[in-house]
Amino acid sequence: VEHMETNSRETLQADFDTFDISEELGFVLEEPLTHLPDYYRVWLDLANNLTHLIESRKLRDLVHNMPVLSPDLLTNHRELRLAHLSLGFISMGYVWQEGQHAPAQILPKALAWPYWLVSRRLGLPPILTYADSVLANWKLRDPTGDMEIRNMDLIFSFPGGESCRGFFLVSLLVEMAASSGIAVSIQYSLPLFHVSCFWSYSLLLSVIRKTKFVLFPDHVEPTAFHGTLRIFVSGWKDNPMLPRGLLYEGVSSEPILLSGGSAAQSSAIQCFDALLCIQHEDETGAFLTRMRDYMPPAHRQLIETLSICPSLRDFILSRSSSDLCQAYNSCISALVDLRCYHLNTVTKYVIVAGNHARSMGCPLRGVGTALNNTGTGGSNIMVFLKSVRNTTQKALILERPSTSRETEI
Ligand code: HEM
Ligand SMILES: *[C@@H]1O[C@H](CO)[C@@H](O)[C@H](O)[C@H]1NC(C)=O
Ligand SMILES: *[C@@H]1O[C@H](CO)[C@@H](O)[C@H](O)[C@H]1NC(C)=O
Ligand SMILES: *[C@@H]1O[C@H](CO)[C@@H](O)[C@H](O)[C@H]1NC(C)=O
Repeated sequence: VEHMETNSRETLQADFDTFDISEELGFVLEEPLTHLPDYYRVWLDLANNLTHLIESRKLRDLVHNMPVLSPDLLTNHRELRLAHLSLGFISMGYVWQEGQHAPAQILPKALAWPYWLVSRRLGLPPILTYADSVLANWKLRDPTGDMEIRNMDLIFSFPGGESCRGFFLVSLLVEMAASSGIAVSIQYSLPLFHVSCFWSYSLLLSVIRKTKFVLFPDHVEPTAFHGTLRIFVSGWKDNPMLPRGLLYEGVSSEPILLSGGSAAQSSAIQCFDALLCIQHEDETGAFLTRMRDYMPPAHRQLIETLSICPSLRDFILSRSSSDLCQAYNSCISALVDLRCYHLNTVTKYVIVAGNHARSMGCPLRGVGTALNNTGTGGSNIMVFLKSVRNTTQKALILERPSTSRETEI
């Protein structure tokens, strides 16, 4: 049995702690807290009642009366994550309370200053990220029950009712399924170099599509998503409604540009790209790399560690094993299928719902996406997603004539 030695082997074998990964849940935060020390009660009171406060347009006034709290009493990772999550929800609600045409230009100091400090301690940007709204925003209805959608709830919600719940929870289930595979690959250090591991990854990717992603239409309604929820995950970078960004009062004298939350910030999917040596190029690649700044640093570190591993594809190309090629290709195909399915979902939820909204006199102005979406009808989104899918497809290894001796590694 031949092994491929790598410099990063030891790094990969190191504790899950190094990359802040749970053996069971991958990148998902285990048992997120729902309470903070009493000193922070005002944050949780607002965040817990956010939907009501946005709909009744009381949130901004309440924020203006908020005391400036010091984050120094937050002592551990899970407390910091809950603080980041709650300040994120309140900030998004504050900025977008009056709708997409009247965003707040300034985030008051009582939000901006502690949010900035908490963000710095976590290595996350001071905006609601996927790591907040999806990975750290869940709880079980029955704590002894399973992590299945019927037994799960969000900690904090935006307007949009069941569609908001479905949007974040289905993303969580996809992420959980995907990152359990990542956890396994770290545990056994590069098992992907073995034929059977490729097969299990390709199975995993198709299971994600067939059993998790398909839950979307049952739980998320296109008009609720497009008309109500989407605005609240919008950021202030490449957003024509906030072209200069948002001013964080008491933190900086210039506005700051930050992208809104997007599953493009999912570490799991980027890990699959890294493991399979799929390299997205040009603007597409630059955008995905930039999204890593919105991931917890340990997760970003893992993607970067996997990306500098010796190229798996080159290794496969250097063998003449058709088994290995087939197994690798089946992974690529499963990832292409997943991305095609995602493209169809985006068409339904962004493009079709957007055209519908426009025909009702409500223009789609490129908000609710981390990409610069100034092309009509979200054309930049579609070009981006098609380019990601095309690059994935191009990773397929064309079968060569097989040799008599199949190499087992
Ligand atoms: C209503 C459902 C969804 C919509 C409308 C949607 C929309 C989008 C958009 C517009 C982008 C482009 C980047 C951006 O502008 O933020 C994107 C990228 C992405 N989305 Fe979604 N998405 C949805 C559901 C999901 C789910 C459930 C997942 C799985 C966790 C997911 C995973 C991704 C990934 C990984 C990317 C980066 C591109 C790639 O790696 O293929 N999306 N999505
Ligand atoms: C939310 O706010 C409303 C009005 O301010 C109040 O009636 C309601 O009791 C609050 N709910 C919670 C859970 O704090
Ligand atoms: C978005 O991209 C278009 C061209 O792709 C560019 O002309 C425009 O200035 C960009 N908008 C922003 C806000 O960056
Ligand atoms: C992706 O590939 C299809 C089919 O080969 C092609 O028509 C399309 O222009 C490509 N799109 C992008 C954005 O690369």
